[in-house]
Amino acid sequence: MTRQSFRSSMKKAIKATLEKTAVGRSALNRYLVFRTSQAAKQSTVDLQAQLEQSERGLESVGQWWNRCHSENEEFGYWLTGSSGSQVWSSLNVEDRIGPGTTVLNIGVGQGHCTRGLVELGCRVHALDISPVALKRISDCVIAVWLPSQLHDLPSDTFDLAISHLVAQHMSDADLNQQIREVVRSLKADGVFAMQFAFCLSGNDKDIEETPGALKAGSIRRSLETVKSMITNAGGRLVWSTKIAEFPEHNAGWYAVNIQRQVES
Ligand SMILES: C[S@@+](CC[C@H](N)C(=O)[O-])C[C@H]1O[C@@H](n2cnc3c(N)ncnc32)[C@H](O)[C@@H]1O
Repeated sequence: MTRQSFRSSMKKAIKATLEKTAVGRSALNRYLVFRTSQAAKQSTVDLQAQLEQSERGLESVGQWWNRCHSENEEFGYWLTGSSGSQVWSSLNVEDRIGPGTTVLNIGVGQGHCTRGLVELGCRVHALDISPVALKRISDCVIAVWLPSQLHDLPSDTFDLAISHLVAQHMSDADLNQQIREVVRSLKADGVFAMQFAFCLSGNDKDIEETPGALKAGSIRRSLETVKSMITNAGGRLVWSTKIAEFPEHNAGWYAVNIQRQVES
């Protein structure tokens, strides 16, 4: 066994052990946040160069995501690669997942969360801006959806919808539409669990919705703004918490759980 394969199998064993308990999952989660910010710091130059090249080539946001998914080796950083257990624990939905749960996974990235849900017996639909991303997980899901098909999502269907590290890549107009259609597609007791980025110094929408900012994931919103988006979309906020802070980027992440408004 080479030194590298030994280290890799040790890593897998440690991860599997940690994932068995809530304390372990929480530690793994904190590690992901740390690793994400470290990786961003170490490779700022490369990431910046990739974005600048995309902007110079007038690549659309959709083309950019297709490239990130197709050229995984070089652009894979942008897909994050969060594991299912990290996503579910951050979004407070672990207890809702099990055999037969119907889930809409939004923004599939490397596919780890989607495949994890399927392994646990969930009936999974996937929504992504990139047809390349959807093709990669099409072997294991029930249906795939593009943002242009949001209107066709079936009503009253999902026990759970998940969006992790996606809202910060979306314009207000697109996020408003997504929340409205996803809330409509939830069962009466279903939950839409969403992460979004906020600005630590309290400014709301401090960054313009340029293609560069959407690609980079720099769109930040206050909890108040997201609350009013939810209400206007026919939803209600049932839970929220801060899950991370990055003082070096003047940014942090919130997680929220949304349900349909109760009809009177
Ligand atoms: C940063 S990755 C996050 C992946 C994964 N959820 C995770 O936490 O590791 C963003 C994902 O969202 C997708 N995405 C970007 N904009 C989107 C949009 N407007 N609607 C749906 N998916 C989008 C990208 O193609 C990519 O798969």
